[in-house]
Amino acid sequence: MTLRTLSVDLGDRSYPIHIQKDLLGDIEKWQSFVAGRQVLIVTNSTLESLILPSFLESLQALPVRPQKLETVALPDGEQYKDLTTLNMIFDALLAHRFDRRCLVIALGGGVVGDMAGFAAAAYQRGVEFIQVPTTLLSQVDSSVGGKTGVNHALGKNMIGAFYQPQAVLIDTKVLGSLPERELSAGLAEVIKYGLIADIDFLAWLENNMDALMARESEALAYAIYRSCEIKAEVVAADEREGGIRAILNLGHTYGHAIEHHQGYGAWLHGEAVGAGMAMACELSCSLGWITPAENERAIKLIERAKLPILPPVNMTGDDFMKGMSLDKKVLDGQLRLVLLKGLGSAVVTADFDTQCLAEQLRQLG
Ligand code: GLY
Repeated sequence: MTLRTLSVDLGDRSYPIHIQKDLLGDIEKWQSFVAGRQVLIVTNSTLESLILPSFLESLQALPVRPQKLETVALPDGEQYKDLTTLNMIFDALLAHRFDRRCLVIALGGGVVGDMAGFAAAAYQRGVEFIQVPTTLLSQVDSSVGGKTGVNHALGKNMIGAFYQPQAVLIDTKVLGSLPERELSAGLAEVIKYGLIADIDFLAWLENNMDALMARESEALAYAIYRSCEIKAEVVAADEREGGIRAILNLGHTYGHAIEHHQGYGAWLHGEAVGAGMAMACELSCSLGWITPAENERAIKLIERAKLPILPPVNMTGDDFMKGMSLDKKVLDGQLRLVLLKGLGSAVVTADFDTQCLAEQLRQLG
């Protein structure tokens, strides 16, 4: 399969995104990144036996090998994305006496990428890192754009840093062994890009959802490419989320409230975003900003990706209000939401009829 390459344009901190089948085994690509360097691979306890051994073999077969090659496997799951687990990365870096020219490679999903990136941002005040995302969700979203960090018991992603990687290297072959729930969770973020920014991509997704669910390589590669392209454009325009970048959070305010209420890890992030996007579409519809037919079209697509379209039955309107008030988009105590004004066009706004939101939440009991 052909290599597709994109760039995240951030001046002297610009970096490439390479998308390629079997990229993990592409020795030439790795040579330039790791030759002669101190390399720490951060992964998780599941990938430690699934993907890590062959990746290590590839790196050890390089004509010019890394000077040091160490690994640390974090426990697998969003519930471990915290300061305690983060310390495992610092322990490994310090125990092996890595200096400030070392390279951290994040080999895993969003949890590994966020934590390895945050550790790279903080270790000796910043060392280089590369994102090697292994889930669909991390390939299309969390590995691109430099958001790194951990959760706190009182809120998701509340402790972190904007810190860009040197490159994002996406191997589509690893999606073959992805559990079905994880595939659906990734598709939530893919659908998000169509809803917020590209009606043609939304139509492409409607035509290709069966192929994506069947993991057809060409369909997946295009969906990843287009998603990364949209994300790269938004990040280049607003790296630190002063404005437009917040549209990437469609469904996330509701979704984070779900994750927080259910306990991190109970619902996958993408599942919570699926239900959250359905709720954001419903609200956009009751505000008169999308038509009932557009709302139905969006919800049907979310459903076809085998994602939840309703919130958890044990969550009340009050639970949502509490969780949503913790969102980072709350400014001066005012809740701002990402909503649709037509399909393919999103706004971030506090300027909506709050009675419609109150009514939506009241109906949950
Ligand atoms: N996942 C949303 C962002 O990176 O801004």
